[in-house]
Amino acid sequence: MENFFTQPINIGNLKLKNRIFLAPLAGVSDIPFRRICQEFGAGLTYVEMLSANAVNYVNAKTLRMRARHPSEEILGVQVTGPTPQELARAVEKLDQENFDTIDINMGCPVKKVVKANCGSAITKDTEYMAEVVAAVRAVTSKPLSTKFRIGFDKINVEDSALCSVKNDVEMFTIHGRTAQQNYSNPVDFKKIGDGVSAGKQEKSDIVAVGNGDIFDWESAVQMQKQTGCDAIMISRGALGNPWIFREILEGKVLHPTCEEWLDVILRQLQYHEEHYGDNVPTTRMARKYFVWYAKGYPGCKPFRSKLQHVDSLKEARILFKEFAATLPKDLVRYQGLSFKEAQHIKHGYDPKYDMDRKLDRGVGTECME
Ligand SMILES: Cc1cc2nc3c(=O)[nH]c(=O)nc-3n(C[C@H](O)[C@H](O)[C@H](O)COP(=O)(O)O)c2cc1C
Repeated sequence: MENFFTQPINIGNLKLKNRIFLAPLAGVSDIPFRRICQEFGAGLTYVEMLSANAVNYVNAKTLRMRARHPSEEILGVQVTGPTPQELARAVEKLDQENFDTIDINMGCPVKKVVKANCGSAITKDTEYMAEVVAAVRAVTSKPLSTKFRIGFDKINVEDSALCSVKNDVEMFTIHGRTAQQNYSNPVDFKKIGDGVSAGKQEKSDIVAVGNGDIFDWESAVQMQKQTGCDAIMISRGALGNPWIFREILEGKVLHPTCEEWLDVILRQLQYHEEHYGDNVPTTRMARKYFVWYAKGYPGCKPFRSKLQHVDSLKEARILFKEFAATLPKDLVRYQGLSFKEAQHIKHGYDPKYDMDRKLDRGVGTECME
Protein backbone atom coordinates (compact mmCIF):
# COMPACT_ATOMS: atom_id res chain seq x y z
CA MET A 1 0.00 0.00 0.00
CA GLU A 2 1.31 3.45 -0.88
CA ASN A 3 2.53 5.55 2.01
CA PHE A 4 0.10 8.47 2.34
CA PHE A 5 2.75 10.78 3.76
CA THR A 6 5.18 10.45 0.84
CA GLN A 7 2.66 11.88 -1.60
CA PRO A 8 3.34 15.44 -2.83
CA ILE A 9 0.84 18.14 -1.92
CA ASN A 10 0.25 21.74 -2.99
CA ILE A 11 -0.47 24.69 -0.74
CA GLY A 12 -1.90 27.02 -3.35
CA ASN A 13 0.84 27.27 -5.94
CA LEU A 14 3.54 25.96 -3.58
CA LYS A 15 4.49 22.37 -4.36
CA LEU A 16 5.61 20.29 -1.39
CA LYS A 17 7.39 16.97 -1.86
CA ASN A 18 5.58 15.23 1.02
CA ARG A 19 3.08 15.65 3.84
CA ILE A 20 5.26 15.73 6.93
CA PHE A 21 6.02 19.19 8.24
CA LEU A 22 8.16 20.50 11.05
CA ALA A 23 6.21 22.98 13.20
CA PRO A 24 7.41 26.50 13.83
CA LEU A 25 9.12 26.05 17.20
CA ALA A 26 10.06 29.11 19.24
CA GLY A 27 13.65 28.79 20.42
CA VAL A 28 14.13 25.59 18.44
CA SER A 29 13.46 25.78 14.69
CA ASP A 30 16.60 27.71 13.83
CA ILE A 31 18.73 27.14 10.72
CA PRO A 32 20.93 24.32 12.12
CA PHE A 33 17.97 22.29 13.40
CA ARG A 34 15.88 22.93 10.28
CA ARG A 35 18.72 21.77 8.05
CA ILE A 36 18.92 18.50 9.92
CA CYS A 37 15.14 17.96 9.76
CA GLN A 38 15.14 18.82 6.05
CA GLU A 39 17.91 16.28 5.43
CA PHE A 40 15.73 13.67 7.12
CA GLY A 41 12.91 14.57 4.75
CA ALA A 42 10.71 17.25 6.36
CA GLY A 43 8.52 18.53 3.52
CA LEU A 44 8.02 21.99 5.02
CA THR A 45 9.77 23.84 7.83
CA TYR A 46 9.25 27.24 9.41
CA VAL A 47 11.35 29.85 11.14
CA GLU A 48 10.54 30.44 14.80
CA MET A 49 7.37 32.41 15.49
CA LEU A 50 7.80 36.17 15.02
CA SER A 51 5.78 38.92 16.59
CA ALA A 52 4.30 41.59 14.33
CA ASN A 53 5.72 44.24 16.66
CA ALA A 54 9.21 42.86 16.27
CA VAL A 55 8.84 42.82 12.48
CA ASN A 56 7.27 46.29 12.29
CA TYR A 57 9.80 47.93 14.57
CA VAL A 58 12.84 46.03 13.23
CA ASN A 59 13.91 43.99 16.20
CA ALA A 60 17.52 42.94 15.52
CA LYS A 61 17.02 39.50 17.05
CA THR A 62 14.17 38.63 14.73
CA LEU A 63 16.20 39.73 11.69
CA ARG A 64 18.55 36.85 12.45
CA MET A 65 15.62 34.52 13.06
CA ARG A 66 14.37 35.38 9.55
CA ALA A 67 17.54 34.20 7.82
CA ARG A 68 17.32 31.38 5.28
CA HIS A 69 20.16 29.01 4.51
CA PRO A 70 20.96 28.55 0.79
CA SER A 71 20.28 24.82 1.14
CA GLU A 72 16.68 25.44 2.26
CA GLU A 73 14.46 24.67 -0.72
CA ILE A 74 11.21 25.66 0.97
CA LEU A 75 10.70 27.81 4.04
CA GLY A 76 7.70 29.27 5.81
CA VAL A 77 7.38 32.09 8.31
CA GLN A 78 4.93 32.39 11.18
CA VAL A 79 3.76 35.59 12.79
CA THR A 80 1.33 36.71 15.45
CA GLY A 81 0.15 40.18 16.37
CA PRO A 82 -2.09 42.27 18.65
CA THR A 83 -4.38 43.80 16.00
CA PRO A 84 -5.38 43.04 12.41
CA GLN A 85 -3.62 46.25 11.33
CA GLU A 86 -0.32 45.40 13.07
CA LEU A 87 -0.39 41.90 11.67
CA ALA A 88 -1.17 43.07 8.16
CA ARG A 89 1.65 45.60 8.33
CA ALA A 90 4.10 42.89 9.39
CA VAL A 91 2.89 40.47 6.75
CA GLU A 92 3.25 43.14 4.07
CA LYS A 93 6.95 43.23 4.98
CA LEU A 94 7.33 39.46 5.29
CA ASP A 95 5.66 39.10 1.91
CA GLN A 96 8.66 40.89 0.38
CA GLU A 97 11.12 38.56 2.10
CA ASN A 98 12.49 35.17 1.18
CA PHE A 99 9.60 33.00 2.40
CA ASP A 100 7.41 30.64 0.40
CA THR A 101 4.42 30.64 2.71
CA ILE A 102 3.08 32.64 5.65
CA ASP A 103 1.29 31.32 8.73
CA ILE A 104 -0.72 33.26 11.29
CA ASN A 105 -0.13 31.92 14.80
CA MET A 106 -3.50 31.75 16.53
CA GLY A 107 -2.53 28.98 18.96
CA CYS A 108 0.24 30.20 21.25
CA PRO A 109 -0.94 29.83 24.88
CA VAL A 110 1.92 31.75 26.57
CA LYS A 111 0.37 34.13 29.12
CA LYS A 112 2.30 37.15 27.97
CA VAL A 113 1.33 36.49 24.37
CA VAL A 114 -2.35 36.00 25.20
CA LYS A 115 -2.34 39.14 27.37
CA ALA A 116 -1.06 41.09 24.36
CA ASN A 117 -4.09 39.80 22.40
CA CYS A 118 -1.86 37.61 20.24
CA GLY A 119 -1.60 33.84 19.62
CA SER A 120 -4.52 31.80 20.93
CA ALA A 121 -6.31 34.98 22.15
CA ILE A 122 -7.20 35.66 18.50
CA THR A 123 -9.52 32.63 18.47
CA LYS A 124 -11.61 33.75 21.45
CA ASP A 125 -13.95 35.69 19.19
CA THR A 126 -14.84 34.40 15.71
CA GLU A 127 -15.66 37.82 14.26
CA TYR A 128 -12.33 39.18 15.41
CA MET A 129 -10.54 36.12 14.07
CA ALA A 130 -12.20 36.72 10.68
CA GLU A 131 -11.01 40.34 10.71
CA VAL A 132 -7.46 39.19 11.41
CA VAL A 133 -7.36 36.61 8.65
CA ALA A 134 -9.05 38.94 6.12
CA ALA A 135 -6.60 41.77 6.91
CA VAL A 136 -3.61 39.49 6.36
CA ARG A 137 -5.10 37.93 3.24
CA ALA A 138 -5.51 41.38 1.72
CA VAL A 139 -1.75 42.09 1.83
CA THR A 140 -0.23 38.86 0.55
CA SER A 141 -0.79 36.61 -2.41
CA LYS A 142 1.65 34.02 -1.05
CA PRO A 143 0.13 30.77 0.23
CA LEU A 144 -1.40 31.70 3.58
CA SER A 145 -2.29 29.46 6.50
CA THR A 146 -3.53 29.63 10.08
CA LYS A 147 -2.49 27.47 13.02
CA PHE A 148 -4.91 27.21 15.91
CA ARG A 149 -6.02 24.95 18.74
CA ILE A 150 -9.37 23.22 19.11
CA GLY A 151 -10.40 26.17 21.25
CA PHE A 152 -9.18 28.76 23.71
CA ASP A 153 -11.15 27.50 26.72
CA LYS A 154 -14.35 26.43 24.98
CA ILE A 155 -14.19 24.22 21.89
CA ASN A 156 -14.64 26.27 18.71
CA VAL A 157 -12.49 24.35 16.28
CA GLU A 158 -15.14 24.33 13.54
CA ASP A 159 -15.49 28.12 13.74
CA SER A 160 -11.73 28.59 13.49
CA ALA A 161 -11.52 26.27 10.49
CA LEU A 162 -14.48 27.92 8.74
CA CYS A 163 -13.24 31.37 9.49
CA SER A 164 -9.86 30.51 7.97
CA VAL A 165 -11.33 28.94 4.85
CA LYS A 166 -13.93 31.67 4.27
CA ASN A 167 -11.16 34.22 4.36
CA ASP A 168 -9.24 32.39 1.68
CA VAL A 169 -6.34 30.71 3.40
CA GLU A 170 -4.83 27.79 1.50
CA MET A 171 -4.09 25.70 4.59
CA PHE A 172 -4.86 25.41 8.29
CA THR A 173 -3.25 23.41 11.08
CA ILE A 174 -5.13 22.19 14.13
CA HIS A 175 -3.34 21.39 17.37
CA GLY A 176 -5.70 19.04 19.21
CA ARG A 177 -5.70 20.76 22.61
CA THR A 178 -7.32 23.93 23.93
CA ALA A 179 -5.07 26.81 24.99
CA GLN A 180 -5.96 26.02 28.61
CA GLN A 181 -4.76 22.43 28.38
CA ASN A 182 -1.18 21.36 28.80
CA TYR A 183 0.75 18.45 27.38
CA SER A 184 -0.54 16.00 29.96
CA ASN A 185 -3.88 16.10 28.12
CA PRO A 186 -3.71 13.85 25.06
CA VAL A 187 -4.71 15.45 21.75
CA ASP A 188 -8.36 15.10 20.82
CA PHE A 189 -8.48 13.43 17.39
CA LYS A 190 -12.25 13.69 17.21
CA LYS A 191 -12.17 17.48 17.60
CA ILE A 192 -9.35 17.82 15.07
CA GLY A 193 -11.48 15.71 12.71
CA ASP A 194 -14.47 18.03 13.29
CA GLY A 195 -12.33 21.00 12.26
CA VAL A 196 -10.97 19.17 9.22
CA SER A 197 -14.50 18.22 8.06
CA ALA A 198 -15.89 21.72 8.62
CA GLY A 199 -13.07 23.24 6.57
CA LYS A 200 -13.39 20.67 3.78
CA GLN A 201 -17.15 21.10 3.52
CA GLU A 202 -16.60 24.77 2.80
CA LYS A 203 -13.68 24.23 0.40
CA SER A 204 -12.85 20.68 -0.60
CA ASP A 205 -9.26 21.37 -1.67
CA ILE A 206 -8.21 23.17 1.52
CA VAL A 207 -5.08 21.59 3.03
CA ALA A 208 -5.92 20.52 6.60
CA VAL A 209 -2.99 19.62 8.83
CA GLY A 210 -3.16 17.60 12.05
CA ASN A 211 -0.80 18.40 14.92
CA GLY A 212 -0.13 17.00 18.37
CA ASP A 213 1.38 13.91 19.99
CA ILE A 214 3.03 12.55 16.85
CA PHE A 215 6.12 10.73 18.06
CA ASP A 216 6.54 7.89 15.58
CA TRP A 217 5.16 6.16 12.49
CA GLU A 218 2.30 4.62 14.44
CA SER A 219 1.05 7.89 15.92
CA ALA A 220 1.41 9.60 12.52
CA VAL A 221 -0.88 7.00 10.97
CA GLN A 222 -3.29 7.32 13.88
CA MET A 223 -3.49 11.11 13.43
CA GLN A 224 -4.22 10.77 9.72
CA LYS A 225 -6.73 7.92 10.00
CA GLN A 226 -8.68 9.40 12.89
CA THR A 227 -8.87 12.98 11.64
CA GLY A 228 -8.84 12.73 7.84
CA CYS A 229 -6.12 15.39 7.70
CA ASP A 230 -4.10 15.93 4.50
CA ALA A 231 -0.73 16.32 6.19
CA ILE A 232 0.83 16.22 9.65
CA MET A 233 2.94 18.67 11.58
CA ILE A 234 5.51 17.44 14.06
CA SER A 235 6.73 19.36 17.09
CA ARG A 236 8.10 17.63 20.22
CA GLY A 237 8.49 14.38 18.32
CA ALA A 238 11.43 15.86 16.39
CA LEU A 239 13.33 17.12 19.43
CA GLY A 240 16.43 14.93 19.67
CA ASN A 241 14.79 12.71 17.09
CA PRO A 242 14.97 14.10 13.54
CA TRP A 243 14.87 10.45 12.38
CA ILE A 244 11.09 10.73 12.85
CA PHE A 245 10.73 12.25 9.35
CA ARG A 246 12.56 9.35 7.72
CA GLU A 247 10.68 6.85 9.89
CA ILE A 248 7.32 8.16 8.70
CA LEU A 249 8.48 8.45 5.08
CA GLU A 250 9.74 4.86 5.13
CA GLY A 251 6.69 3.67 7.05
CA LYS A 252 8.56 1.68 9.65
CA VAL A 253 10.25 2.10 13.01
CA LEU A 254 13.91 3.04 12.58
CA HIS A 255 16.75 2.02 14.86
CA PRO A 256 19.68 4.30 14.09
CA THR A 257 23.01 2.86 15.23
CA CYS A 258 25.16 4.74 17.75
CA GLU A 259 27.41 5.72 14.85
CA GLU A 260 24.52 7.27 12.94
CA TRP A 261 23.31 8.95 16.09
CA LEU A 262 26.73 10.52 16.68
CA ASP A 263 27.06 11.51 13.05
CA VAL A 264 23.79 13.48 13.15
CA ILE A 265 24.71 15.27 16.37
CA LEU A 266 28.12 16.22 15.04
CA ARG A 267 26.49 17.51 11.87
CA GLN A 268 24.08 19.69 13.82
CA LEU A 269 27.02 20.97 15.85
CA GLN A 270 28.82 21.83 12.62
CA TYR A 271 25.77 23.70 11.27
CA HIS A 272 25.41 25.45 14.60
CA GLU A 273 29.01 26.59 14.46
CA GLU A 274 28.65 27.73 10.84
CA HIS A 275 25.60 29.78 11.73
CA TYR A 276 26.43 31.18 15.17
CA GLY A 277 30.16 30.53 15.69
CA ASP A 278 31.59 28.69 18.68
CA ASN A 279 31.21 30.85 21.76
CA VAL A 280 29.65 30.72 25.20
CA PRO A 281 26.21 32.27 24.46
CA THR A 282 25.59 30.18 21.35
CA THR A 283 26.75 27.01 23.10
CA ARG A 284 24.29 27.73 25.88
CA MET A 285 21.58 28.07 23.23
CA ALA A 286 22.58 24.68 21.87
CA ARG A 287 22.51 22.86 25.21
CA LYS A 288 18.81 22.02 24.92
CA TYR A 289 19.45 20.12 21.68
CA PHE A 290 22.32 18.22 23.32
CA VAL A 291 20.08 17.19 26.18
CA TRP A 292 17.36 15.99 23.82
CA TYR A 293 19.84 13.95 21.81
CA ALA A 294 21.38 12.46 24.95
CA LYS A 295 18.39 10.27 25.77
CA GLY A 296 17.68 6.58 25.46
CA TYR A 297 21.12 5.14 26.21
CA PRO A 298 22.45 3.49 29.36
CA GLY A 299 24.36 5.96 31.52
CA CYS A 300 22.95 8.97 29.71
CA LYS A 301 21.68 10.75 32.82
CA PRO A 302 25.11 11.79 34.16
CA PHE A 303 26.13 12.48 30.55
CA ARG A 304 23.19 14.88 30.18
CA SER A 305 24.22 16.67 33.37
CA LYS A 306 27.69 17.24 31.92
CA LEU A 307 26.20 18.55 28.70
CA GLN A 308 24.18 21.08 30.63
CA HIS A 309 27.42 22.75 31.70
CA VAL A 310 29.41 22.86 28.44
CA ASP A 311 30.51 26.30 27.31
CA SER A 312 31.91 25.52 23.88
CA LEU A 313 30.82 23.43 20.92
CA LYS A 314 34.30 21.94 20.87
CA GLU A 315 33.79 20.64 24.40
CA ALA A 316 30.36 19.25 23.46
CA ARG A 317 31.87 17.43 20.47
CA ILE A 318 34.46 15.78 22.69
CA LEU A 319 31.83 14.73 25.24
CA PHE A 320 29.56 13.20 22.60
CA LYS A 321 32.44 11.31 21.01
CA GLU A 322 33.65 10.03 24.39
CA PHE A 323 30.15 8.90 25.34
CA ALA A 324 29.54 7.20 21.98
CA ALA A 325 32.84 5.31 22.39
CA THR A 326 31.45 3.72 25.58
CA LEU A 327 28.43 2.29 23.73
CA PRO A 328 28.39 -1.11 22.01
CA LYS A 329 28.27 -0.49 18.22
CA ASP A 330 25.05 -2.46 17.70
CA LEU A 331 23.20 -0.88 20.62
CA VAL A 332 19.75 0.41 19.75
CA ARG A 333 18.55 3.63 21.29
CA TYR A 334 16.01 2.97 24.06
CA GLN A 335 17.12 -0.70 24.05
CA GLY A 336 16.24 -2.71 27.13
CA LEU A 337 13.17 -0.63 27.81
CA SER A 338 9.67 -1.83 27.24
CA PHE A 339 7.79 0.05 24.54
CA LYS A 340 5.76 1.77 27.25
CA GLU A 341 8.85 2.93 29.13
CA ALA A 342 10.41 4.25 25.94
CA GLN A 343 7.17 6.05 25.14
CA HIS A 344 7.25 7.57 28.58
CA ILE A 345 10.76 8.89 27.99
CA LYS A 346 9.89 10.16 24.55
CA HIS A 347 6.46 11.57 25.36
CA GLY A 348 6.81 12.28 29.03
CA TYR A 349 6.75 15.67 30.58
CA ASP A 350 10.01 17.49 30.21
CA PRO A 351 10.48 20.90 31.80
CA LYS A 352 12.39 21.95 28.69
CA TYR A 353 9.08 22.07 26.85
CA ASP A 354 8.13 24.86 29.16
CA MET A 355 10.34 27.19 27.21
CA ASP A 356 7.43 27.37 24.82
CA ARG A 357 5.66 29.27 27.57
CA LYS A 358 8.60 31.28 28.86
CA LEU A 359 10.24 32.48 25.70
CA ASP A 360 9.94 36.12 24.82
CA ARG A 361 9.06 36.39 21.15
CA GLY A 362 9.21 40.17 21.23
CA VAL A 363 5.46 40.28 21.79
CA GLY A 364 4.57 43.44 23.66
CA THR A 365 6.10 46.86 23.74
CA GLU A 366 9.61 46.00 24.93
CA CYS A 367 10.61 44.95 21.45
CA MET A 368 10.04 48.38 19.95
CA GLU A 369 13.64 49.38 19.35
C1 LIG B 1 9.63 24.21 22.38
C2 LIG B 1 8.35 24.48 21.69
C3 LIG B 1 8.21 25.65 20.94
C4 LIG B 1 7.02 25.91 20.25
N1 LIG B 1 6.91 27.02 19.48
C5 LIG B 1 5.83 27.21 18.69
C6 LIG B 1 5.77 28.29 17.75
O1 LIG B 1 6.67 29.12 17.64
N2 LIG B 1 4.66 28.38 16.97
C7 LIG B 1 3.63 27.47 17.05
O2 LIG B 1 2.65 27.59 16.30
N3 LIG B 1 3.66 26.47 17.93
C8 LIG B 1 4.74 26.30 18.74
N4 LIG B 1 4.78 25.25 19.61
C9 LIG B 1 3.63 24.34 19.66
C10 LIG B 1 3.82 23.18 18.68
O3 LIG B 1 4.00 23.61 17.36
C11 LIG B 1 2.66 22.19 18.69
O4 LIG B 1 1.49 22.82 18.29
C12 LIG B 1 2.47 21.52 20.03
O5 LIG B 1 3.70 21.25 20.67
C13 LIG B 1 1.71 20.21 19.88
O6 LIG B 1 2.41 19.30 19.10
P1 LIG B 1 3.25 18.07 19.75
O7 LIG B 1 2.33 17.38 20.70
O8 LIG B 1 3.64 17.27 18.56
O9 LIG B 1 4.43 18.69 20.45
C14 LIG B 1 5.94 24.99 20.33
C15 LIG B 1 6.09 23.83 21.10
C16 LIG B 1 7.27 23.56 21.76
C17 LIG B 1 7.40 22.29 22.54
